[in-house]
Amino acid sequence: MILAASILGADFGRLEAHTREALDAGAEWIHVDVMDGHFVPNISLGAPVMKDLKALAEEKGALLDVHLMIENPDRYLEDFAKAGAHVITVHQEACVHLHRTIQAIKDLGCKAGVALNPGTPVSTLEDVGTYLDLLLVMSVNPGFAGQGYIPATTEKLRRAKQLLRASHSAALLEVDGGVTPDNAREATDAGADVLVAASAIFKGDITANIEAFRRSQMHVI
Ligand code: DX5
Ligand code: ZN
Repeated sequence: MILAASILGADFGRLEAHTREALDAGAEWIHVDVMDGHFVPNISLGAPVMKDLKALAEEKGALLDVHLMIENPDRYLEDFAKAGAHVITVHQEACVHLHRTIQAIKDLGCKAGVALNPGTPVSTLEDVGTYLDLLLVMSVNPGFAGQGYIPATTEKLRRAKQLLRASHSAALLEVDGGVTPDNAREATDAGADVLVAASAIFKGDITANIEAFRRSQMHVI
């Protein structure tokens, strides 16, 4: 299981220190939630902020996992690639020419991810499954941290894993929204490889929170 710390849950005034603490405690990826106030009803941060995390990611060997919740993502792919993104994920709902967008991300030297809102079926990715490096299943309606995990997500993760298998794809399956140590095992049992968490990592004691995620994956005898 890969744990991706969503900086949306961090104290932006101490972004570097908070992110560093999460990585030191064992989070492998830094998840960057980019919101434009159009695709989702909230505005967060952009490539300039990410640039400041690039050095930290390099120092720690962490991956910068960029989740674009924006309209017309094609316009900004290069900015995020230059800012140090390793993975760039766009929303299926925001891309008219999804196949072209996936290729554009790869041409920039990044791994290509596609995200699905809770209301978008897995089947919409049948024709691009083979090209994906990451498939992100949203377990909340995107826009805000601190929402509850939608229970139907677990079955959706199983369907997403099936689609990847049927496409002979080695893409990672990521789940994002309301993920906590209490439901983490349910998600990984359903096939999730990458767990994104903001509130459950950054609220309270970051190190203890990450240990709780690790414990959630241990087999109880
Ligand atoms: C939601 C974002 C998530 C969010 C997760 O739109 O994509 O990455 O930060 O926050 P929590 O873990 O608090 O649900
Ligand atoms: Zn996200």
